[in-house]
Amino acid sequence: MGGVQSDQQEFCSDTMASRNWVCLLTFCILTAESHAQLDVCGTVPLNTRIVGGEDAPAGSWPWLISLQRFGSHVCGGSLINREWVMSAAHCFSSTSTSGWRVSLGRQNLQGSNPNEVSSTVAGIVLHPAYDIFNNDIALLRLSSPVKFTDYIRPVCLAASDSVFTNGTDSWVTGWGKVQEGVVSLLVGLSLPFPKTLQEVKLPVLGNRQCNCLHVGRVTDNMLCAGVLAGGKDSCQGDSGGPMVNQQGSVWVQSGIVSFGLGCARPNLPGVYSRVSRYQSWINSHIKSDKPGFVQFNSSGLDADSSYICPGLSPPLVTSAAATTTTTTTTATATTATATATTTTATATAATATATATAAKTSRFGMLGLTVK
Ligand SMILES: *[C@@H]1O[C@H](CO)[C@@H](O)[C@H](O)[C@H]1NC(C)=O
Ligand SMILES: *[C@@H]1O[C@H](CO)[C@@H](O)[C@H](O)[C@H]1NC(C)=O
Repeated sequence: MGGVQSDQQEFCSDTMASRNWVCLLTFCILTAESHAQLDVCGTVPLNTRIVGGEDAPAGSWPWLISLQRFGSHVCGGSLINREWVMSAAHCFSSTSTSGWRVSLGRQNLQGSNPNEVSSTVAGIVLHPAYDIFNNDIALLRLSSPVKFTDYIRPVCLAASDSVFTNGTDSWVTGWGKVQEGVVSLLVGLSLPFPKTLQEVKLPVLGNRQCNCLHVGRVTDNMLCAGVLAGGKDSCQGDSGGPMVNQQGSVWVQSGIVSFGLGCARPNLPGVYSRVSRYQSWINSHIKSDKPGFVQFNSSGLDADSSYICPGLSPPLVTSAAATTTTTTTTATATTATATATTTTATATAATATATATAAKTSRFGMLGLTVK
């Protein structure tokens, strides 16, 4: 997380109503266990402050969790109901739960955290189509349900028909690096003691323009945010953490911190997994007590829809066109191979996939693309 943002936000008028709601909800939970998260998600009883700096006051982002392995912070994540946390698939090398813990209600990574609750992990679900960095999403089931407090609450998730137009205000929070390293990201500047949670406000950057800046690497499953001048971004250690947007008095998670080229470099916005693309996948794994999905509406015309990329040929247009291009390429490759050899269609497809993956990996390496 780099950069400081001066902005004013006041939710004073909502505070009393929210508190009454909390009490009511406790009763509801006791009497109706299977109630969805819509009554509680995305509300912040303690967000009555004025945002004026980079340290986030305690209780500001109550769904944010620190994902830890053998006691060390590895990634961020978000609480989406009493038993499930969402994060990025690239934070995990396997689905083994050994050594993993989720720390909730936390403000500092070091020193005291009076509102912290920690839980072991009972299960890790990685998206089956995760492939650096497409579908960079994971779900974690806690060993037992957590109790909601002013410091521990779920976030609402962007429903599948949500729209985030260019320039939409978003907030990203995390305990990641505050500056990219000069030689390598690995030696980037870490947060100073006591490693207080950082927050930064960033505008959404439309997918066409973002894909242009990231030379064709941005898919429809991704969402970008960042300041084109640079200086503000998520960074290594923020991965898996949420990007959220405010709609009325409710906070909706639009993205999961995924990747970027370095951190906060000019004209290289951060790339996030687009949460709204995964509503049915998430719901297929969470059978009861469903997360609260909310349709986020951006008003007005999206400037990005008419953006033309000067350097990218052919430019990424609609998803339909992109799919057509892919299909054509694959079909051509298959035909060529089939003609040259006597391999089966299955083997040809497998080879094509392996080649494509290898090419993508090396290009990532060459350009210094980094996970966060
Ligand atoms: C968003 O748009 C949908 C469909 O037009 C509508 O049903 C919903 O109430 C809108 N939500 C808000 C908060 O404006
Ligand atoms: C998108 O918004 C940014 C400011 O956040 C602006 O610089 C850029 O020109 C906009 N893109 C389009 C296509 O209008």
